[in-house]
Amino acid sequence: MDDAHSRTRRINLSKGNGKHNIAMIGAGYVGLVSGVGFAYHGNRVTIVDVLEDKVEKINKGASPFYEPGLDDLVNKLVNGNKLRATTDLDKAVHDAEFIFICVGTPMSDDGAINLDYIRSSARSIGNALKGTKDYKVIVAKSTIVPSTTEKVIVPAVEKASGKIAGRDFGVCMNPEFLAEGDALKGALEPDRIVIGALDNKSGDALEGLYAPFKCPKLRVDLRAAEMIKYASNSFLATKISFSNEVANICEKYGVDVYQVMDGVGLDFRINPRFLRAGVGFGGSCFPKDVSALAHAAEDAGVTPAILKAVLEINDRQPYRAVELVEGVLRSLKGKRIAILGLSFKPDTDDIRFTRALPIIEALTGKGAISVAYDPKGMPNFKALTKGKKLNIEYANSAREALDGADAAIIQNEWSEFKKLTAMDFKRMRTPVVIDGRRILDGISLEKAGVTYRGIGWKGNKETILKRLK
Ligand code: NAD
Ligand code: UGA
Repeated sequence: MDDAHSRTRRINLSKGNGKHNIAMIGAGYVGLVSGVGFAYHGNRVTIVDVLEDKVEKINKGASPFYEPGLDDLVNKLVNGNKLRATTDLDKAVHDAEFIFICVGTPMSDDGAINLDYIRSSARSIGNALKGTKDYKVIVAKSTIVPSTTEKVIVPAVEKASGKIAGRDFGVCMNPEFLAEGDALKGALEPDRIVIGALDNKSGDALEGLYAPFKCPKLRVDLRAAEMIKYASNSFLATKISFSNEVANICEKYGVDVYQVMDGVGLDFRINPRFLRAGVGFGGSCFPKDVSALAHAAEDAGVTPAILKAVLEINDRQPYRAVELVEGVLRSLKGKRIAILGLSFKPDTDDIRFTRALPIIEALTGKGAISVAYDPKGMPNFKALTKGKKLNIEYANSAREALDGADAAIIQNEWSEFKKLTAMDFKRMRTPVVIDGRRILDGISLEKAGVTYRGIGWKGNKETILKRLK
């Protein structure tokens, strides 16, 4: 977060000599940010998207979405002729040695992976390959369930191009591990690079492209690369749901889950990261990826017991915040509840699978009015909820959302929310704070006359005694 800002300020453009031509299909987080990573290392990168407004924005030197430090780097790379964007996939593929598929793989209505964009982009790449003689490597970077590269991408490209994989063109699977809000770190200084390859020639070529990146590199087969991505995301999601389950038990026993996880995380076999209890995980990846893997498991005749439990716990977790507010206010009918944070986490305007939505839906169901504020996520959240019947108003600042509110729910951890004090909460009609991410000091706030509840919070002694009476 703040680290990401300072890191990007320190970035100087590398004096690369344009070693490779690369096409990134999809101008989303993965296509643009990893494209920026390749361009930063001196390659010439063309980002391809079907959406003209995204393409125009990039060519003007800006990012189509908010990500700390990205605008600045896109601007420098576009002006330095290392990065450009286009809707002309044919030409981009024609000019490229490496073609990365970075299109979305969203969740279908039944929870399985939706491969529509993968199929159509593979077909378009195949059509574009028809007119070329050069050997090119097609790299699947999108998150795709095991066997998709072999069973969906390769046949689609072969059919459209009339060429043979492994002979006329190379094929790799190279999962992306960046996290939004800190995406440049993932692109410029990844903690590992996984190269799944159809054959040695493809794998060697991609390893060569990654030569300037200094981190552990793992060569595996295509399916292992696909599975490493799902196992990684599912394990991180499991850590979160585990912490949330422990948090709910902790609350009942007057134990602070953050103290517990501080102790648990000191075991080097566990490590302290991703043990923060709260209103659950959102975002464009954990919910859909855990669900896609569970679905793929069932298709293969395996019962995904842990994955299902991870999702179930996560689906319930946002309602803990609503239960906590009800515990204090009793009836929520007509009450004004400030919602601090709409994006799925801080430092992004991404609202996909945000926990704010189930919270606001539940509050609406109970007759409350949500007064929402987020530093960056409001336009996307408004678009997401257009046409939905929600009791929602928007505020221009956290303090405006708090004015006259009966309670506040903290849904994400933007740094400006961490700075809120008892004085700010005293602007409310009744100063009640439900800390869905445990970013505030509950004991100090309660001492200052604010009623504080948090996910997995032990409560202060007086509160517990009052509760026990
Ligand atoms: P996104 O939805 O932000 O962007 C995808 C882009 O692809 C869109 O701009 C869309 O217009 C474009 N597109 C779709 N079909 C196209 C086509 N045929 N030709 C050209 N462009 C096309 O997606 P994202 O968040 O960047 O994720 C992409 C993939 O990477 C997904 O599989 C995701 O799971 C995975 N992933 C995402 C992240 C992340 O932080 N967002 C991290 C790691 C992996
Ligand atoms: C996640 C992974 O961290 C990336 O490595 C991966 O590449 C990416 O998914 C992906 O495949 O797209 P991201 O979704 O951007 O990245 O963000 P995270 O920081 O992982 O947070 C995901 C959600 O988990 C957020 O809602 C966050 O609030 C929640 N979270 C995270 C917790 O509730 N507790 C924690 O301890 C950590």
